[in-house]
Amino acid sequence: MSTIEAEVDALRSEALEALTQADGEAAREAWRAEWLGRKDGRLTLRLRALKDAPPESRAALGKSLNELKATLEAELEARRDSARAAALSADAALDVTLPGRPQSLGRLHPVTQTMNDCIAAFAEMGFRVFEGPEVEWSRYNFDAVRIPDDHPARDMWDTIWIDTLIEGERQILLRTHTSPNQIRVMEQTEPPVRVIVPGKCYRQEATDATHEWMLTQIEGLAVDEGVRMSDLKGTLYAFARRLFGEDRRIIFHHSYFPFVEPGVEMAIDCFLCRAGGSDCRTCHDTGWIEILGAGMVHPEIIENAGYDSSRYTGFAFGVGIERVAMLRWGIEDIRHFYQNDLRFLRQF
Ligand code: DAH
Repeated sequence: MSTIEAEVDALRSEALEALTQADGEAAREAWRAEWLGRKDGRLTLRLRALKDAPPESRAALGKSLNELKATLEAELEARRDSARAAALSADAALDVTLPGRPQSLGRLHPVTQTMNDCIAAFAEMGFRVFEGPEVEWSRYNFDAVRIPDDHPARDMWDTIWIDTLIEGERQILLRTHTSPNQIRVMEQTEPPVRVIVPGKCYRQEATDATHEWMLTQIEGLAVDEGVRMSDLKGTLYAFARRLFGEDRRIIFHHSYFPFVEPGVEMAIDCFLCRAGGSDCRTCHDTGWIEILGAGMVHPEIIENAGYDSSRYTGFAFGVGIERVAMLRWGIEDIRHFYQNDLRFLRQF
């Protein structure tokens, strides 16, 4: 064995022996300072003294000392790792009698829950679900459903338009209602048609307790031979009772929507004051709460879809889902739905 090897071997044995004796992190740290300390660690000093070694053995000695340094560092790390592992398993000694840590479970958003319940109610009556685009052509959103050019709904202030110009005009928008899908469905299928179209709609709104700039609707459409107003009433009556209770009563008022004739609004009897009418915030003492718009599909729309309007008739309706959810649970402000406050969302 060369003198170099002998010297490095001796250092190694001494250092490793000392490390085995070093019990606890303080002792390990002291050992590190003694051997590897930057200023005056024993190995550090030895490496520094290399420059005084005879030139012919300097390289070999340097190599051995550097290897030793790497060994000592690795050994120290290994000792520290096993000390940490031992501490951990001592801490976490398994106690099977402790209660488990509860997982916090997610749940469906109240609007999604309500949407699902509405869909289920219509699905049971034979309606299929169809979906249309949220970014829509103005010709579907407005023209095809007979909303004329000068209608206020088309205004910049009411509608969120996409800036892209086509033939010099804005023609693309975030749909303001789900009604354009009446047209999309009829273009793609032949009667009998029985569909619902759930989805988000967007309007430029100053938000308040009952208005949001994004809202969720379900559009309904049924077209067949001999579809009558009584079918519309029966369908919506079944829906209202399913969502708001078997003893619900409904009433239809005349209303105007360009795509239906006649058009109606349907209200349910106020289940809070039972039309008792003293300061009822829900029905404003009228005893009735409007929940949706509906009507018999305008014959012009039936014709435009390529159906024969002397043979086919239909009804359509549009329900605002946030409104249904608010009534169901007595939520007084629509803005709660989209503020992502878990204290609110956890209640449903
Ligand atoms: N699209 C109307 C709205 O957003 C709601 C509506 C009313 C839909 C009457 C219909 C309908 O299908 O027949 O205000």
